[in-house]
Amino acid sequence: KKRIGILTSGGDSSGMNAAVRSITRVALQKGCIPYAIYEGYQGLVDGGQYIKELGWEDVRGLLSVGGTSIGTARCSDFRQREGRVRGAYNLISNGIDALVVIGGDGSLTGADMLRAEWSGLVDELIATKKVTAEECEHLREDLTIVGLVGSIDNDMAMTDITIGAVTSLHRICEAVDNLTSTALSHQRAFVIEVMGRHCGWLGLMAGIAVGADWVFLPERPPPLNETKYGDDWETEMCDIVKKYRALGNRKTLVIVCEGAIDRNLKPIKSDYVQKVLTDRLHLDTRVTCLGHVQRGGTACAYDRFLATVQGVEAVEAVLRSKPGVPAPMIGNSHNKMTCTPLMEAVKLTHAVAEAIAQKDFGRAMEMRDPEFTA
Ligand code: F6P
Repeated sequence: KKRIGILTSGGDSSGMNAAVRSITRVALQKGCIPYAIYEGYQGLVDGGQYIKELGWEDVRGLLSVGGTSIGTARCSDFRQREGRVRGAYNLISNGIDALVVIGGDGSLTGADMLRAEWSGLVDELIATKKVTAEECEHLREDLTIVGLVGSIDNDMAMTDITIGAVTSLHRICEAVDNLTSTALSHQRAFVIEVMGRHCGWLGLMAGIAVGADWVFLPERPPPLNETKYGDDWETEMCDIVKKYRALGNRKTLVIVCEGAIDRNLKPIKSDYVQKVLTDRLHLDTRVTCLGHVQRGGTACAYDRFLATVQGVEAVEAVLRSKPGVPAPMIGNSHNKMTCTPLMEAVKLTHAVAEAIAQKDFGRAMEMRDPEFTA
């Protein structure tokens, strides 16, 4: 009987609960024992009351609920080896031999680190007499790890979509639709700041869905027409806004991703964009930073579906796992479920950030979307 620990880690995202529910119920149906590890890696490090066996009823009603009911944390203790030793102890003492981690790239890296160090951690616990060799006999060789990507940012490589990104996109669209009615009434401009760290997916998709005039992305700093505008994105943006106003637009919507930068890697701030629109075009301009509103609320149908089917696959992957085989990440490509080596996806995700830092924006875009052409 596999004993499967489930934890959610990093920024919460809608659909994480649906994943916990799915993993729990499929695990039970397959004769495994699921455990909730509460408060992310912090619960793993602290053990005791933070690790509890889950029954069928414990996950009732979770399918649509936003956030993560088993809690999450950005845990610094687990980044230290000492924290991982305690985590390993808590797994062994609960007899847990598999871990499904639902989180972003940092959380999945943590899981892989635990697995890479696993036999060393077990040896240390035996040597210090914290556990006996008999207690961890079946666990000595390897710890099964499976990753599910839960993040609103949709920034993970090797998957088209992450659990929670679409719900967040809906939240952004609802908020911008609300702003649109007041913008139209006053003929105002709105600069709207959205989350996403170094990934422009939320901003770009929202921009298309709400009909924004302009979107500032981390991967594709302006100007778009370098030949005409050189480094002068302000004039390019104003020309576009002016053009649409001349066509009869009563409102202007500009979306700024939180990681937006110019071609010299200088952050583009919403307040500065407001100033440009006010000073140069004399538009009555307001800034709205959506903040955590875009991370909250009921999961949309797509995220419930995605999390549920990926949860099923996560349990299958646990049951298929073999010592020494790289830990898998369950993803999605062209609407098909994928199972790729977790660390390859993490490395590729970091490579995008590196390409941006080296001002290789074409490469960053290509890595985000292999079908992209400049
Ligand atoms: O990774 C998800 C995310 O919401 C990012 O978009 C944002 O930069 C960050 O988390 C905010 O983190 P916190 O909730 O810790 O402030």
